[in-house]
Amino acid sequence: MKIIGGESIRGNIKVPGDKSISHRLAIVSAICEGTSRIDNFSRSQDCQSTLECLKNLGVNIKKFNGTVEITSQGIRSLQKPETALNCGNSGTTMRLLSGVLAASDTEATLIGDQSLSRRPMKRIIEPLEMMGAQIESKDGFAPLEIKGKPLSPIEYTLPVASAQVKSAILLAGLNTKGETTVIETAETRDHTERLFKFLKAPLQIANSNRKKIFKIKGPFSPAAFDAAAPGDISSAAFFIAAAIGLKGSEISIESVGINPTRTAFIGILQNFGADIELSNKHKICGEPVADIIVRWTEKLQKHPLRVDGPLIPNLIDELPILGVLGTRLPAGLEVRDAYELRHKESDRISAVVQNLKKMGAKIEELEDGFIVAPSRLEGAEIETFGDHRIAMAFAVAALFAEGETVISNAECANVSFPGFYDELEQLLS
Ligand code: S3P
Repeated sequence: MKIIGGESIRGNIKVPGDKSISHRLAIVSAICEGTSRIDNFSRSQDCQSTLECLKNLGVNIKKFNGTVEITSQGIRSLQKPETALNCGNSGTTMRLLSGVLAASDTEATLIGDQSLSRRPMKRIIEPLEMMGAQIESKDGFAPLEIKGKPLSPIEYTLPVASAQVKSAILLAGLNTKGETTVIETAETRDHTERLFKFLKAPLQIANSNRKKIFKIKGPFSPAAFDAAAPGDISSAAFFIAAAIGLKGSEISIESVGINPTRTAFIGILQNFGADIELSNKHKICGEPVADIIVRWTEKLQKHPLRVDGPLIPNLIDELPILGVLGTRLPAGLEVRDAYELRHKESDRISAVVQNLKKMGAKIEELEDGFIVAPSRLEGAEIETFGDHRIAMAFAVAALFAEGETVISNAECANVSFPGFYDELEQLLS
């Protein structure tokens, strides 16, 4: 992919359905009895991996025009697949499905691509084993061989801020007799909890002393449902950053999820002086949604933008594009407490630092983040490390840069956003 530096972006766009929410809607449909219908289902490769795994477990799936119809007879109807379940690049698929399979009556092996096979699975194996699950792994990494069996409830405090781990335990708890308790000390995305509430599952949530305590009483088998995924804020973030960084830009993004556990990227930039307006606010299946309008402004604050602490899980997927935007902020950017970024589809701290350095940015790598100075970027050859968010972040960096940028393996953007480069091109004036 070759990209030449751009002037501004202008126009209206729609981003794909939210990936995190689509995974959850599909996986939960597979443990409902009956046919569920999901509109605006994410067209990402990751969510297609989830659908393929569910099909191989005997779930009936029909797709037409962005709507997916999922028919199941509940968790007890899941069947042993003939081959290993391939989760591709998708951590959410592997971790959430593990929670379901551990408490099922069937068995399956979960595999992933090279990147997913390097990502830590001990974080789900440990709590699921405490519940009595039978999981064989390669020393804490995929492949995971899971033999479903009746589990026992536990009380578990999450040692890492991870919505995937929280969700794996809640899904196991939903299908386990008794009350399973999960305690979260740093807030992470709450889509699973919202979906459980939407389906009237017996989930109690309490806040105490900066902790969130979740209690799920199982077994509960939800009724099939109709739902829709809002637009993905993590996909919208690339256009928001481009509009803030490119003089004269003005864009509008239709119907994007603005769940407060996902909007720190917008919140910190608004507080920093960026002109981001949320209009037409409403709710879809318990998830808040709005149109997002972004206008370029020169009235950004003059001190460095610092992002750290409990905000981090709330914008973890947006940090690569924030790093790129850091080069355009009046006094740069400092990101700390983001060590988890090293465990994503690639080591995103190292990927952002290496690529921004290649483009001539002044950037310092920290163990848990980076410090970016305002910098003029020059076109360069970008290495995506097969990571969709690195590819898209550096397509925007290419627009900020002078000269031509070449992104190798740019098609990995399809993992979350098929059609990304076409949308971006269409907005260039
Ligand atoms: C996700 C949770 C986050 C996020 C990932 C999607 C989810 O991962 O980075 O892209 O859908 O629950 P962790 O739970 O590993 O932090």
